[in-house]
Amino acid sequence: MSSAAPAEPHVMSTYGRVPIALSHGKGARVWDIHGKRYLDALAGIAVNTLGHAHPKLVRALQDQIGKLIHTSNYYYNPATEELARMLVERSGMSNVFFCSTGLEANEAALKLARKFGHDKGIERPEIVVYEKAFHGRSIATLSATGNPKVQVGFGPLVEGFIRVPINDIEAIRRATAGNPNVVAVFFEAIQGEGGVNPMSTDYMQQVRALCDVNDWLLMIDEVQCGMGRTGKWFAHQWAGIAPDVMPLAKGLGSGVPIGAVVAGPKAAQIFQPGNHGTTFGGNPLSIRAGLETIRIMEEDGVLENAARIGQHLLSALTGQLMHMPGVKAVRGKGLMIGIELDRPCGVLVQRCADAGLLLSVTADSVIRMVPPLILSGAEADEIVAILVPQIKAFLAESA
Ligand SMILES: Cc1ncc(COP(=O)(O)O)c(C=O)c1O
Repeated sequence: MSSAAPAEPHVMSTYGRVPIALSHGKGARVWDIHGKRYLDALAGIAVNTLGHAHPKLVRALQDQIGKLIHTSNYYYNPATEELARMLVERSGMSNVFFCSTGLEANEAALKLARKFGHDKGIERPEIVVYEKAFHGRSIATLSATGNPKVQVGFGPLVEGFIRVPINDIEAIRRATAGNPNVVAVFFEAIQGEGGVNPMSTDYMQQVRALCDVNDWLLMIDEVQCGMGRTGKWFAHQWAGIAPDVMPLAKGLGSGVPIGAVVAGPKAAQIFQPGNHGTTFGGNPLSIRAGLETIRIMEEDGVLENAARIGQHLLSALTGQLMHMPGVKAVRGKGLMIGIELDRPCGVLVQRCADAGLLLSVTADSVIRMVPPLILSGAEADEIVAILVPQIKAFLAESA
């Protein structure tokens, strides 16, 4: 290990940190305070779309900081409409509410669903959610989350959720049969924290149809898998459908905190003045970060890069790992890739870091990579060259 863990006696100990303190980055590389270099396949957990210190983003943010950082939603910011228009055009939806984080975007989605129900005279609206889902850590979003570890100690949970397994259309039909209180279905197009579990194209199309027939909102959490990560703007677009509500955050500001809820025509008019709001939502700095992220992604062909390099990485990892006993699956789309082992493998986080590669392990046994979308082919090859021997050694010693 090259770096000792810095002490944090005054910081609340909510995180199991890797004992590394990072000092700076460039592209897909970061350096720790001792000068050790890492390839960053975590990207701040699917946040640093453009990598670190992207020159165009740095220039734009420096310009913005010198003008206005924050003003409040008492006043107009013309750039807010511009970013909303960009998101609407790229999603085929109609209106946007801005906030700062993923859980806030999801909280707003849950409020939209409940008010959609109340407006129709449903007093106790219920929302379909999924096993292994992750939607955040506020009381409502942790209640929607399908992971008991996130919920324990925080009861009573928020009521009004019906939980079903992923990719099983009969299960959702059974769970909602004859229930007049259902108002929405809420899922991640690819579950991130739950272990990189994609919703199948068929399933997303079938749920879209089910929502249309029953007048439910289809709400797709694209906080982790959206904003170009899979090679399309939004992961559900691979299924050729559009949701009614789409929470975004993470990659939208390439590192500057920003979240958004994008609504289609069925949900765009639900919130009326006074129904929802947040102090930092859509502040000039975060909006500028969102605008420049999208502009730079288009100028530099970042979507195409995510699709091409992601496919290259997935094929290389599949080729080298799939025959190996102990490897259950190599899956994902674009630059959101999971390798599921048949045993817990959290130790690989530290071992890979020691070998110069940052990544995470989620759902105990899934090695997850969500690198910056500007990753090069050579860097993808380097990920494979570092990771595969680490997995082999781990499987051999823990067999
Ligand atoms: C799919 C999904 N939704 C919501 C969240 C919560 O986002 P935040 O941590 O910004 O509140 C996350 C975070 O990992 C996520 O992956």
